[in-house]
Amino acid sequence: MTKVLRMPSSQGRAAVGEIASGLDVEQVRRDFPILYRKVHDRDLVYLDNAATSQKPGAVMEAITRYYEQDNSNIHRGVHYLAERATAEFEAARQTVQSFLNARRPEEIIFVRGATEAINLVAQSYGRSHVSAGDEVVITALEHHSNIVPWQILCEQKGAKLWVAPINDDGELILEEFDRLLGPRTKIVAVSHVSNALGTLNPVAAVIRMAHARNIPVLVDGAQAVPRLPVDVAKLDCDFYAFSGHKTYGPTGIGVLYGKSNLLEAMPPYQGGGDMISSVTFEKTTYNKIPHKFEAGTPDMSGAVGLKAALEYLNRLGMNNIAAHESELLDHATAVISTIPGIRVVGTAKEKAGVLSFVMEGVHPHDIGTILDQEGIAIRTGHHCAQPLMERFGVDATARASFGVYNTKREIDALVRGIEKVKEVFS
Ligand SMILES: Cc1ncc(COP(=O)(O)O)c(C=O)c1O
Repeated sequence: MTKVLRMPSSQGRAAVGEIASGLDVEQVRRDFPILYRKVHDRDLVYLDNAATSQKPGAVMEAITRYYEQDNSNIHRGVHYLAERATAEFEAARQTVQSFLNARRPEEIIFVRGATEAINLVAQSYGRSHVSAGDEVVITALEHHSNIVPWQILCEQKGAKLWVAPINDDGELILEEFDRLLGPRTKIVAVSHVSNALGTLNPVAAVIRMAHARNIPVLVDGAQAVPRLPVDVAKLDCDFYAFSGHKTYGPTGIGVLYGKSNLLEAMPPYQGGGDMISSVTFEKTTYNKIPHKFEAGTPDMSGAVGLKAALEYLNRLGMNNIAAHESELLDHATAVISTIPGIRVVGTAKEKAGVLSFVMEGVHPHDIGTILDQEGIAIRTGHHCAQPLMERFGVDATARASFGVYNTKREIDALVRGIEKVKEVFS
C-alpha cells in the first residue's frame, strides 16, 4: 500500500512523498545529488539502475573522508595511516560479511566486480576441478559475465557447457535443469535475478537440487544484492558474486563470497604482492584466505565506499527496498503492457525491478534516443545477454530498471515518453 504525504523538499519546492512499504522515497531522493541535475533541460528520470545505480552522499563522503584522513597502502606498513587504512578495509569486509550473513569475514574476497568474481571461480575452482569430459551447467538467463568465463574454462579443459532452458515467460524450467545434472557436472552457475528480464530465479531450489548430487553452486547476485535481502548462509550457496557499483556503491569494487573450506583448497587466481606468505625463486607459499585471492594493492577507497553503501541500504531496510521496487514494477507493468504495440519481454511470476519491452515497428535504440530528449534514461540493446535475446526472437529490448529513489511519477513520465515515441513513428 502506498501512503501519500506532503513534505517540503530540500530543493525548496513542494514534493509529494511516496511512502511505499516503509520507504520514504522523497527523503531517499534527497540523498542522491545527481537526481537534481537537469538533462536536456528536463528533470532527470533515471531508470537505468540495472546498468549502474546512482550514489548517495554518504558514499561520496566516506570516500572523501578516507582520502582526506586515512589513505595509505594496507597490510604492509607499521605507521599510523597504514594501520588506519587497514582497519577501514577490514571493517568493510566485516560489513559485507554481515550484510550477506556469511559465517566468517575471510569468506569475503574483494574483487573488481561480479565479472571478476565469476572469472576467479572459473579459473581457480574450475581449473582445479574440471577435466576433459566434465560438465558445467548454467542457464539460458545468464549475463555474458556468467557465460563467457565458463566457455573459456570448458575450452581450456575440453569440458562441456550445458544450458538449462527457460519457458516463454522467462522462467527457468527446473525439471530440465535437474535433468542436466549428472556425475560429470562439476559446478552450476546461475543468476539470482536476470538483468535483462528481471526474472527472480528459484536459486534455493537450484542449490538443493545441485547439492543433492554434491555439485557446488555459484550464484551471480549482481542484480539481486541491490534489490533483495540476501542470506548466503540460508541459501547455502557455495559462491556468491556481486558488484559495488550496482549496489549504490562505487565502481571498481565487488565481492566474491565463498565457503571457507572451498576457498582454502583453491589455488590462487592472480600472483603478486599481499597474496603470498613467503617467496623464493624456487618456491612461493601463499597467504591465508582472503588475502590469497587479493593480489596487489586493492581498491581501498572502493571498499570504504561499499561499506557506506551497504550501511545506507541497511538503514533503508532491504525488505522495504524489495517492497518498494515490487510496487514500482507492478505499476510499470500494468501501465506499459496496456500501451498498444508494446510487448513486455519477460513475464515471470517472480520478478525483481526490471522491465524489458519492445515496440512494434520501432527499434529500441530509437525509443532510448527519444526518451533521452525527455530526460529519461533507460537502457536499450542486448543487455550483455545475446543468447537470451535470441531465445525471445529479438536482437534488443528497451529496459527500465528501478532503484530506491524511483517513483510512480517517474514511471508515468516514462509512459508519456513512450506515447511521444509512438507519435514520432506514427
Ligand atoms: C546479472 C549480471 N551479472 C554480472 C554482471 C557484471 O557486472 P560487472 O560489470 O559489474 O562486473 C552484470 C552487469 O550488468 C549483471 O547484470
